[in-house]
Parts: sequence; structure tokens; C-alpha cells
Amino acid sequence: MTAILPSPSPIPCPGSAESLAALRDRAGPHVDTALPGPRSAELLARQEQRESNARTYPRHLPFAVAQAAGSFIRDLDGNVFIDFLAGAGVLSLGHNHPELVEVATAQMSVFTHGLDMPSPAKDAFTEAQLSMLPAGMADHVKIQFCGPTGANAVDAAIKLTKTATGRGDILAFSGGFHGSTHAAMALTGNLAQKRPIANPMPGVHFLPYPADTPSAGAPDGVDPSAWEASCLALFERALTDPNGGIPLPAAVIMELVQGEGGVNPASVAFTRAVRELTRQLGVPLIVDEVQTGAGRTGTWFAFEQYDIEPDVVVASKALSGMGLPVAIVIYHRDLDVWAPGAHTGTFRGNQLAFAAGVKTVEIFHRDRILDNVRARGEQVRARLGALDSLPTVREVRGRGLMWGIELTAHSDGRGAGQLAEQVQAGALRDGLILELGGRNDRVVRMLPPLNVTEQVMDTALDILVHAIETSAVHTADPCV
Ligand SMILES: Cc1ncc(COP(=O)(O)O)c(C=O)c1O
Repeated sequence: MTAILPSPSPIPCPGSAESLAALRDRAGPHVDTALPGPRSAELLARQEQRESNARTYPRHLPFAVAQAAGSFIRDLDGNVFIDFLAGAGVLSLGHNHPELVEVATAQMSVFTHGLDMPSPAKDAFTEAQLSMLPAGMADHVKIQFCGPTGANAVDAAIKLTKTATGRGDILAFSGGFHGSTHAAMALTGNLAQKRPIANPMPGVHFLPYPADTPSAGAPDGVDPSAWEASCLALFERALTDPNGGIPLPAAVIMELVQGEGGVNPASVAFTRAVRELTRQLGVPLIVDEVQTGAGRTGTWFAFEQYDIEPDVVVASKALSGMGLPVAIVIYHRDLDVWAPGAHTGTFRGNQLAFAAGVKTVEIFHRDRILDNVRARGEQVRARLGALDSLPTVREVRGRGLMWGIELTAHSDGRGAGQLAEQVQAGALRDGLILELGGRNDRVVRMLPPLNVTEQVMDTALDILVHAIETSAVHTADPCV
């Protein structure tokens, strides 16, 4: 038996209200130790010894968190980082937004867990979510409260559409990500994750997806407009070819900006054509807004920017604004033919998440958060646009506050994934937390809080640009 590492030395917790306020109001980060610092290293070692090999973030972001406020995280060694991971796009109003803390704390002593029983907090949350839908949509939809993860809601959406159509196949898109449960993973493109898992959910067919970017996401050497036309032709074929081998599916599922897939916004023409054809054929269109939803792309839902109405919308991550778990499926009433108990789950009634979610919607209106998302998004576009001229940058792309910089191999032998890792590590050393994604993790991603200030964004962009420019410098030793 391996000996458990000794308990860490007592860790001072600089968690007074004053220091939290100071953290929230910082203009920038500071990193004063090597990473990880000594106290973080202690907890990372204990984590490595006791936690699963499947753990992810600490492998690339090697620090232990002491506290967080707004757009900032302080680690156990006193280093302060700008957090542009934001809990994987969950913390839309930053860490510990004081008003969200207040309502969640108040709710805590009233009622916390309610299965799917009605309560004032749940009713207000439902009302708030319906109020954010485009005009008229609320009149003909219903909401399913799911287990609290995006993947659970994706599973529910698949079960819903299979039940309603009596069909069993699903069309999904390469590059897509829908979660890590067995079924959600079956719908996900990333083969490295799927390879070790035998017998995935059958009946899933993948089709290529053209992006609304200069490259259209086309393979190297393929003309972008030809690519878009080919993707559409393949999609039409898949749904209509009597000799195509794909039965009429129970649903088509898509992200309108693929997040984990490397920030690929879907082509507008393609998406509208998908909507048109699925409607004609009676195939429900599921739009997975787990990452794009609740304001991330500059509208409450990304589908609004495509001028389409999906049959099913899946949402989760940022609904509570502060990381309290909640997930929903919003769907057309006509699909509501599943039986009582068709998709149960113990944790469908987190009242704290509901209270915080209502307050989040209120703050979105009052503080014009969507305007901030659009303005900060333009700030990013203006600053990063010029990066395209670097030989290691393939494309800069994004919507609202969801951005990706796709890198390409360096002539000195470093691959795109290796460069992206270097950018992530370099930015972290300068105090900026970034995420990676896309094929072979070659896309550097930003998911800032949606209320990030212009000043913090400026500082973050300085760090990011410096990290990318530094990584693009030729090195004689490609292992560096
Ligand atoms: C588009 C999309 N769908 C589903 C999921 C799965 O959500 P969860 O991790 O909460 O299961 C994610 C998570 O990143 C996502 O980005």
C-alpha cells in the first residue's frame, strides 16, 4: 500500500472580505514564484497520489486555488492570475459575484434540494429562462430539468427525440463535443477520448461541418467555398439518399460554435439549410448550447444569430452565473410525448442554482452584459486580427467572448499542438489562464467572464499576444 503524503502545512487563507474585494478590483495579475509554487506543489502531489489518472486541468494549469473573485484567481502561493477559463465557460459573471452569493446564501436557509417538485425559486427560474427566448418561442416550448450536467441534458434530448420520432439514428458533426457520458461521448468527434470505449451508442453518423471563417474549416488545400458546398451536398445526401445507408434519423445535433472542437462558428448558410431540410423531413434539430448559451456569444442563445428556431435546445454551464449546477432541455411541445419518469435524476432541483439563475438574468438586463460581450468581443477581434500574419497562426476566430487562435506547425519542427501548449504555459507564467482545444489541441482558447472589464481584457490580450509572438520565434532546439 502506498503511504499517503503527509498533510500539507497549514495554509493561510487570505479570504477576508477586504482581500476578496481587492482581488476583484485588480487591474492585472502577478506571478512571483515558479509554477507550481511550493504550496501548490504540495497539493498537486497529494492530488496525483489519490485522484484518478483521468484528471485533466491541473496537468496544464499547475496551481492550487486559494480563492477567487471576479476575473481573478489567487493560488496558494499568492500568485494572481486572470482567469480566462472561467470554470470552462461557467462563471459568466466571474467568480463569487457578490449579488449571486447573496441570493444563493439566502436561499440556502430556505430550501436547497427539490427533485422536480415546484417551488417559488424554480418557478422564477423557469420564468426567467422563458423570458430570454426570442419573441413567441416561449408559447410553444416546454422545459425538462435534467441531472445537472450538460451531458445529462444531451442524453435527455436524444431520448426525447428518439421517443417522439420512434427512430433510432442520430446525425452529428465532426469536431463536435457533447459531453463525457456514454451517449454524449458517442455523439462527440474526438477519437482519442472514444478509442478505449468499446460498444458506444450505435446509430450515430458524423458529417463534416463548414465554419463561418475564411478557411471554412476546410482541410488544407481545399477551396473554402467548395468545402461549404460539399458539406451541404453531403448533408442532403445523408438525409435523403435511399441507397445511402443512413435511415431517417431521430435527430440532428449540432453546436453553432463548436467550443471544445476549437471555436468553430457554423456557416450561416449551411445552418439555415440544415434547419430547412430537417423541418421538411420531420427530423428534430437539437442545438447544443451548453457552452454557447446564456450569453457567451453575444446573444442569450447563439441560434438567434442564425435566425433559426431549433426544435430542441440544450443548456447548462452558465445558467446560474456562478457555477451552481443546473441543466435544462427546452423543446417544442409537439415532442412532449415521453412518459412520466422518462428522464429522471436525483439532482434536478438545485434551488441555489435557480435563485442565482434568476439574479443572473436580472443582472444581464441591468448591467447590459450582452452589450459588454459584444464590445469586448470587438476589442479581441481588433487586437488579435493582426496575428494572422505570424507564420504559426492559421486562423483567429470567435463570437462574442468565445475565441480561438488556431496554430500551425513551425518550420523549426514544433507541431501546432506543441506550440499551443507553449503559449498556454507562457501565458500562465505571465498570469493568464487559457484553455486549449480543437484537433490535437492546437487551438488556444479564451472563455472570459462575460462582465470582464476593458482594462482587464487589455492586459490579458497583451499577455496572450506576447505568448504567441514568443512561441513563434525560431528555436534551434525543437524540444524547447
Ligand atoms: C457543447 C457542449 N455540450 C455538452 C458539454 C458537456 O457538459 P458537461 O461537462 O457539463 O457534462 C459541454 C462541455 O464542455 C459542451 O461544451
